[in-house]
Amino acid sequence: MLNREQIVSQLNNSRFAVTVVEQTQSTNSDLKALALSGAPEGTTLIVERQTAGRGRRGRTFASPEGGLYLSTLLRPAQPVKPGRITCLAAVAAARAIESLCDVHVDIKWVNDLYLNGRKVAGILAEGVLSPAGELTAVVLGIGLNVSGTLPEELSSIATTLQQEGATLTREDVAAAFLNEWERVYTAPPEEGMAEYAKRNLVLEREITVVQGDATYPATALAITPAGHLRVRTADGERELSSGEVSVRL
Ligand code: BTN
Repeated sequence: MLNREQIVSQLNNSRFAVTVVEQTQSTNSDLKALALSGAPEGTTLIVERQTAGRGRRGRTFASPEGGLYLSTLLRPAQPVKPGRITCLAAVAAARAIESLCDVHVDIKWVNDLYLNGRKVAGILAEGVLSPAGELTAVVLGIGLNVSGTLPEELSSIATTLQQEGATLTREDVAAAFLNEWERVYTAPPEEGMAEYAKRNLVLEREITVVQGDATYPATALAITPAGHLRVRTADGERELSSGEVSVRL
């Protein structure tokens, strides 16, 4: 079982108040409910496994034992788009992993972390609206494949830290992430966004854009300060704020 003390004892001046439980459906769903009942910024939930982990675009996120499933509740002082939170958290997660072992972590627009060409983590930032329709909080969730066995159907596209030779405890990874996340979240966002662009493995590559039912080829040109992807298509340049891209690695 995850040891809460081992996580908390490694945190630097943290704004994050950590609760560890064995199982839940989705840490993001739990925190969205807590946000609506007034839980403060920094409320953090970490679980051993999720029975209904959620990814972007309504997908399920496989959450077997051995992974780190963590969500934090943010109540940003300035209005902020969840998309930008996604980018900044991806930078924090990449830095955290690299601080613990000798690997290089790439980011794939918009919310995936890659290690040696395969996905090792995914991020899901969700806005929470008050009954009056105002953005009252953002829930930032990360699922990081630390160890354990991933479902067979993911074996060609996903990996774990352990599979890539980095045997780390989930406690160490959780603490490193929360420390980096605090740093990136409180720094000027331009710094994090510059690093997000630098780590992004789609830039200057030929990609396939998937938006709803449409799929088309494009060249990835740049990441904008808002975290959008500027692409060149057969019809000219355009900016993508959502959607998904695939790239041959
Ligand atoms: C993705 O890859 O599309 C994003 C995956 C995000 C998964 C994390 S695990 C913790 C938190 N709770 C969820 O239900 N989802 C996020």
